[in-house]
Amino acid sequence: MKKLLAISFLLILSGISISSCHFNSKDKKNTGAGLLTQKDIHSLSNGDSISIKHLDLDIKVDLVNKLISGQASWTMENDNHKKELVLDTYDLGIDSVKANGQKVAFKLDPQIKFLGSALHIPVKDNTTKVTVWYKTGKDARALQWLDPEQTHDKVHPFLFTQSESIYARSWLPCPDGPGMRFTYDARVSVPSGFLALMSAVNPQSVNDSAIYHFNMEQPIPAYLMALAVGDIAFKSIDDRTGVYAERGMIDKARWELEDVGRMVDNAEQLYGPYRWGRYDVMVLPPGFPIGGMENPRLTFCTPTIIAGDRSLVNLIAHELAHSWSGNLVTNATWNDFWLNEGFTNYFEHRITEQMMGKSYADMIWELGYEDLVDNVNDLNAAHLEKDTWLKLDLKGRDPDDGLTDIPYEKGSHFLKLIEISVGRDRFDHFLKHYFEENAFKTMTTEKFLVYLDTALFKDDSDLKKKININAWVYGPGIPANCPRADQERFVKVDSERDKFLLDTPVEKLATVEWTTHEWLHFLRKMPPALSINQMKKLDDAFNFTGTGNCEIADLWYIMAVRAGYSHAWPKMDEFLSSVGRRKFLEPLYGQMMKDPKTTEMALTLYNKYRKNYHPLAQESLDKIVLNHKPQ
Ligand code: BES
Ligand code: ZN
Repeated sequence: MKKLLAISFLLILSGISISSCHFNSKDKKNTGAGLLTQKDIHSLSNGDSISIKHLDLDIKVDLVNKLISGQASWTMENDNHKKELVLDTYDLGIDSVKANGQKVAFKLDPQIKFLGSALHIPVKDNTTKVTVWYKTGKDARALQWLDPEQTHDKVHPFLFTQSESIYARSWLPCPDGPGMRFTYDARVSVPSGFLALMSAVNPQSVNDSAIYHFNMEQPIPAYLMALAVGDIAFKSIDDRTGVYAERGMIDKARWELEDVGRMVDNAEQLYGPYRWGRYDVMVLPPGFPIGGMENPRLTFCTPTIIAGDRSLVNLIAHELAHSWSGNLVTNATWNDFWLNEGFTNYFEHRITEQMMGKSYADMIWELGYEDLVDNVNDLNAAHLEKDTWLKLDLKGRDPDDGLTDIPYEKGSHFLKLIEISVGRDRFDHFLKHYFEENAFKTMTTEKFLVYLDTALFKDDSDLKKKININAWVYGPGIPANCPRADQERFVKVDSERDKFLLDTPVEKLATVEWTTHEWLHFLRKMPPALSINQMKKLDDAFNFTGTGNCEIADLWYIMAVRAGYSHAWPKMDEFLSSVGRRKFLEPLYGQMMKDPKTTEMALTLYNKYRKNYHPLAQESLDKIVLNHKPQ
């Protein structure tokens, strides 16, 4: 049994570099972030110098014409005497604008790549209300309009939003940066018989008026604005948690998510009270492009976690953990994304450890470490070494470029290193205070490092040397003192895999007690291509082809493509038709494109199923499949 790897400490002096950071003392900010602030390069709005307090949204959702239209009314205070309010928009049609009830001449800039068009609205010192009448465009990147056949139940259309990172601006004109928070009320009108849900206080059943009212009384940034409209049912878990899903999915979803109530209790035991009232989960139709999204009060998640055995619900622990890291204490800019995701990954693992035991959590840590190693190699090969720093530099780029394993895995391993170095009790105490003291505020990497120094490291220079912050935050790759989880359960998996590769009959392998995570490690570490005979032996014994566990299915189909194991094709076809999660689609199509023998198959499948995928998934898959240049 290996212990958490003895950490080899580098003797490089750690220090905090506050580079490219400006001290903004003139303008009063509404973020409560204090003075250590940075310009958000992904927002064109000046909501960082005008106090934007509250949004009243009044919209109509037209599922037939695939259009949202209505008005967004902003309550503000112009303390800094600005001449204009600038809002972010993306492909929005702006009909008219009023300031304090008077029509004003607005100006919509030409579209800038990724960022959209700045909407300039003249304001005066006494302007307190600005109302914009608008409608969404065809390229609204946040919106996925599903035809009935693209839903689980196949009867009614469905709409959902995905606003992170900078897509909220494609469904409402807003200050769209993580550092600008506001409260909101919304009135949403939908076709009769449909239910609407938001990241707010939600209804639990359809009403006759088909008009729904929402309130979010805690200030949130625009990337946490969310809306879902469909034939949706609700089932409660306990008195503060519950599940929403399409009607035909609700029972399965409710069963799978049985432990969510206890998860919230466990999270609270770790890092203090859950501050958002209810915690519900909306299981979306298959086209949802990601695993989960931490919309406040209402996590959105992929149906691919409904595996029938509760084995993939740690994804919910992740989204729940964002109720502290991300939704309470928010990364100031997308360059500080690791503050959202690294903390959340760490917190998720702690919830998992508390609920499932240490050896189980250790497997998840190790799978994450394997991802980190692969990702660092890929980024280095693509000459993107700077994208392996925790502090990112996404100037001129799509913030989604920062969506790698680095913020998640390097970030959480950095926190794990601090935990091991100072002791768990001290670190937990520190984190609890961090969330409490910075609740509803914005955090930059630099501000966090100052906080870490004052609240935890104090003057302990030995400790600082050991941890070597610079190597983690402003340095490439995996620092030499990166901690590794205990390998207790994976050592056993490795030995069963070795036996299999030495031709031990499959029925002799000791796999009975294995969870999904053991299977993932077993398959991941197989040699690059197995023989057809080896594939067949595994398949006959363990029924991988057609498994309902999407994590295993994805890995298995990648192996099938590598091995030319055509028995899996029909089920792989079904998988690609019914799964919209980019994490699964990209590597599988990517694998098919690598070998001339399977590129034709990739093209055929992609052309068949492209319409099922989310606009953002289409964008990234187009690059992999359609713009692929043969080597
Ligand atoms: N907040 C992210 C999703 C996200 C990040 C969307 C950046 C768009 C831009 C969410 O919390 C997340 O990390 N989801 C993961 C699941 C998790 C278990 C790692 C996902 O979707 O795979
Ligand atoms: Zn996350």
